Amino acid sequence: MADHVKIFDTTLRDGEQSPGISLDEGEKLEIAEQLARLGVDVIEAGFPIASQGDFEAVQAIARAVEGPIICGLSRTAHKDIDRCWEAIEPAANRRIHTFIATSERHMQKKLRMTPDQVKAEAASAVGRAREYTDDVEFSPEDASRSDFDFMCDVLQIAADAGATTLNIPDTVGYGIPDEYAEQIRSIRARVSGDYVLSTHCHNDLGLAVANSLAGVTAGARQIECAVNGIGERAGNAALEELVMAIRTRGDFFEGLEVGVKTEELARASRIVSRLTGYPVQYNKAVVGRNAFAHEAGIHQHGVLSDRETYEIMDPAAVGQGESKIVLGKHSGRHAFADRLKHLGLVVHGDALNAAFVRFKELADRKVEITDADLEAIVVDEIGGSMVHHIVLASVDCRGGTVSTPTATVVLAVDGVTVESEATGDGMVDAVCKAVKDATGMEGALTDYTVNAVTGGVDALADVALRFESDGIVVAGKGLSTDVVLASARAFVDALNRLWRIRDSGEDPAGVDRPGSLRGV
Ligand code: KIV
Ligand code: ZN
Repeated sequence: MADHVKIFDTTLRDGEQSPGISLDEGEKLEIAEQLARLGVDVIEAGFPIASQGDFEAVQAIARAVEGPIICGLSRTAHKDIDRCWEAIEPAANRRIHTFIATSERHMQKKLRMTPDQVKAEAASAVGRAREYTDDVEFSPEDASRSDFDFMCDVLQIAADAGATTLNIPDTVGYGIPDEYAEQIRSIRARVSGDYVLSTHCHNDLGLAVANSLAGVTAGARQIECAVNGIGERAGNAALEELVMAIRTRGDFFEGLEVGVKTEELARASRIVSRLTGYPVQYNKAVVGRNAFAHEAGIHQHGVLSDRETYEIMDPAAVGQGESKIVLGKHSGRHAFADRLKHLGLVVHGDALNAAFVRFKELADRKVEITDADLEAIVVDEIGGSMVHHIVLASVDCRGGTVSTPTATVVLAVDGVTVESEATGDGMVDAVCKAVKDATGMEGALTDYTVNAVTGGVDALADVALRFESDGIVVAGKGLSTDVVLASARAFVDALNRLWRIRDSGEDPAGVDRPGSLRGV
């Protein structure tokens, strides 16, 4: 039988103590219901004496939420403990968690109590709580900065008075894994009684999860933690990281198990983030949106042939769906071709190569390439895989609202490089005139529209235009994040169509007249 490590969630108590977070009763209930779905062992629902609102929220959770033990926090004063009990009483399983500081600094500066007074408070509080329930937790606050012998004396007093869980808070995140583990081991050796040892680690040095896990390897069988690691200052140990560390490294944490339904982790994270207004950092372990996203070409190739080359957890196992191959400037041909296949776009040979070159060009300008971007590129390339008499090499624009808009274009016309410069009413007008001059093709633009294919300020612009020459009307399309370049491409596309029509010797009458457009 595996040894069960209890998950004690304090999102609604310590987590709610984060600066700027204030949850109302309905929001607390929503989080508590998700914690129950997640299957945590204990929900610390709040601090009932702190305010009427806190009291009512804890009571509402105790009434409505089934499954986990519902716990309330309480100082050592009897009126605190009585109020705590009143709030949690409706729950099927309830716990009172009482605490008092044991560090020199806290006793002198905050409590203004002598060590003997603190000992007496601990005994009296646990005794009072035991009158209500046989599930009582005791915490010596600021344990990691307390005199160790004195703290052990207080813990022994609490255990003798009937505390069934002894929680060791690293209140200010001061602990170091080896040291914290050693404290847990020594407490187990020195404090007698039938109790569960618990960790409660803050993240001031970024070590909350590491310290908690070290505590578990040293014998703790309860971990106090919060969803997304929220809590006072830098927060508490992150629930999702602890759970997945123990699950994923079952070889290391041999013989230990946690009862959490991991598929609910991502949803828990989203709910807590939405209701607290605390965003989840993109690269947050387990629940961050990039936790299973791959950008580098080498990684993408690896993941596409075997997910486990670069993933130690299955995204589906934490409710994150599937691995994400993010197409960006570091992506390679494998990821590109794979995404096209997923989109049902069949492209081979030269068209695939050309589309890949266009994709890389775009990726240099745009951080993330969306499916709509890809579709647009591919459709453009396939559509353009015919003979091109005119190839656009470069476009250079100057001027604007103050000086005259001027465009210089370099084209290859049937293999001969031609450069031309023109001015216009605006940049688009200037570039179209320059293209017309360079090719010597006569005619007039009759229609011009621009659409944003994708979202954002770096959206792909899709320019569609019509050009009439000698009674023939042709359409042209061009894509780019730069609307002037898209316009030049569209214009060159139209001219190529016109050239092909003339080459084919078809009588334009009937098929190419305005109103029956060719190539639209
Ligand atoms: O950090 C802390 O010491 C606490 C106690 C109340 C357990 O949150
Ligand atoms: Zn705390």
